[in-house]
Amino acid sequence: MRAWWRDARAGVVADAVDVLGAADGQAFGARVDVVIDELHEAVDDVYGARGHDPDALVLHLLALALATAEERSEALRILDHRREIDPHWFLRARQVGYVAYTDRFAGTLRGVIDRLDHLDELGITYLHLMPLLRPREGENDGGYAVADYGAVDPRLGTMADLEALAGELHDRDMALCIDLVVNHTAAEHPWAQAARAGDPTHRRYYRIFPDRTEPDQYEATLREVFPEMAPGSFTHVEGLGWVWTTFREWQWDLDYENPDVLASMCAVMGDLANRGVDVFRLDAVPFLWKQKGTDCENLPQAHRIVQILRNVLRVSAPGTICKAEAIVSPDELVQYLGGHDPEVRECELAYHNQLMVMLWSSLAARDAQLMTRSLERMRQPPDGTGWVTYVRCHDDIGWAVSDEDAAAVGWNGFEHRAFLNRYYAGEHPGSWAQGVKFQENPVTLDARISGTTAALCGIDQARERQDPVALGAAIRRFLLLHAVVIGWGGSIPVLYMGDEIALANDRSFADDPDHADDNRWIHRPPMDWEAAARRHDSGSVEGRVYAGLREQIQARRDLPVMRAGGTTSARWTGHPSVFAWRRTHPRHLPFLGLAAFSDQPTSVPLPVAADAGLHDPVPVLASDGDVRIDDGRIHLPAWGWVWLSD
Ligand code: GLC
Repeated sequence: MRAWWRDARAGVVADAVDVLGAADGQAFGARVDVVIDELHEAVDDVYGARGHDPDALVLHLLALALATAEERSEALRILDHRREIDPHWFLRARQVGYVAYTDRFAGTLRGVIDRLDHLDELGITYLHLMPLLRPREGENDGGYAVADYGAVDPRLGTMADLEALAGELHDRDMALCIDLVVNHTAAEHPWAQAARAGDPTHRRYYRIFPDRTEPDQYEATLREVFPEMAPGSFTHVEGLGWVWTTFREWQWDLDYENPDVLASMCAVMGDLANRGVDVFRLDAVPFLWKQKGTDCENLPQAHRIVQILRNVLRVSAPGTICKAEAIVSPDELVQYLGGHDPEVRECELAYHNQLMVMLWSSLAARDAQLMTRSLERMRQPPDGTGWVTYVRCHDDIGWAVSDEDAAAVGWNGFEHRAFLNRYYAGEHPGSWAQGVKFQENPVTLDARISGTTAALCGIDQARERQDPVALGAAIRRFLLLHAVVIGWGGSIPVLYMGDEIALANDRSFADDPDHADDNRWIHRPPMDWEAAARRHDSGSVEGRVYAGLREQIQARRDLPVMRAGGTTSARWTGHPSVFAWRRTHPRHLPFLGLAAFSDQPTSVPLPVAADAGLHDPVPVLASDGDVRIDDGRIHLPAWGWVWLSD
């Protein structure tokens, strides 16, 4: 590789200088130098091993990167430049995200521009808009079945509107994240249509089998993602054969064994980056590679492909970053942020699914031992990367509780998962939750949970029953969960649209034929702007939740320990219900968060703080109620929490 690159480099840099001018061309060459070893290694691993010429493929990908760089606007080049100087820009203490469906939040992309003041007021600096490229007609999995990567869904606007929104966001020092569905296209995408029409080039874009022989062999070890809505992982298409469809029958998995698929996706990313997209949420990345005899998730080649996509983008549009959507077990999770040994870069961000699941687990169990155990053994994100921490998102909650972690705290994993399903579906005696079960699997008895944060914390139930005491407790639980994700540090906390005003479950989804069989729509309500108007009314539920979240966001901004460059770790407190997490940073004072997953007042001994390096702990922010330090103990009320600094 080294000798080949020594020869090839001069040509690549000369082309770049030709196209971009001396300064940008040389910078392009320098960026290639930074990634070339990893890029070539990954390409060789995946494609060289399958008989393709890795050198030629790398040069082809670099030519695509140069084409993107050439098309990049002056404004975006300036942003690239700033971010290359400040590569941790996305992990500053000020960064707080918000995720929304464009139509449900504001009708159209232009409508979103008109609502940016709402986000500014809350303290949002990062906006993730759910899939907005042109999907198939009819059912489309909330836009995750893309028919055209080059066009915006006409109901939401145009590419020009997307560019205008990105420009507006950048003027406000906010970033734009969009979904990029890399694992599959809609069956209506022109590539799939061409395959259907018999074009051999595009047939090779998908995994198509003439009969059930191979699908049966694969299915022997595959997990079903949607056992209720779409059993099996293959769909029979007349005149074509059995097409690999991990998700719905109209979502066709792309075949990344074909290097043309990889190159096409690099081009798609480049085009979107040039519209002003800052962050790509790479959808369903664990499924990118398939191999018989495995579950076809998290395979090393899937990581390699993400590394390639990422490194090509790093060369062409260095101000952009990637976020992995990998909702996988704790042991598999950190690798999406990069390998450790040797260190290989992958995405800059990944969802901290484990933290999210453990928050809900601790809340129902009133016990944080499993949370402490499972989080304390997770590896730290590699330098320059971070988590997206979140309480709820547009998907269901799947109980990623490993049997080993459960056993380590004396629990049975299967029973605990079953308990969580019953609890959040409101079937457990005394449960405050009003979620619904999603994709119950009669064979494995597995299920997941849908529902808004408010419904799962008990706000919906308390409002229905008009029970002010229960409502108070529910709001405390709501803010407790957020205090952990907002105060985690080294991450971007992302709020789910409508949570800032505690939106309730939306049962009307059942009336929409395109949504009726997918109860995840229960937690995707339209924004209620009338309710949002009550956000400053301290007597309203909206006002109580909004004020609490805003206070946490503002306090976080003033805590430099939250920024990139430090570590966050779970700590034992000696009290089963109290979760502690410590944030340290080489240049800033340490931080300790305590969260009481208990419906009774609790306390932990003061040495918990000293052990975490805080010798004179002072509350920076705390829940309401009786939070105090005395008699050598830190006291917390029911569902209380505190952020401590030295
Ligand atoms: C991701 C999305 C989910 C979607 C799936 C298929 O997991 O979050 O909503 O159904 O990918 O695209």
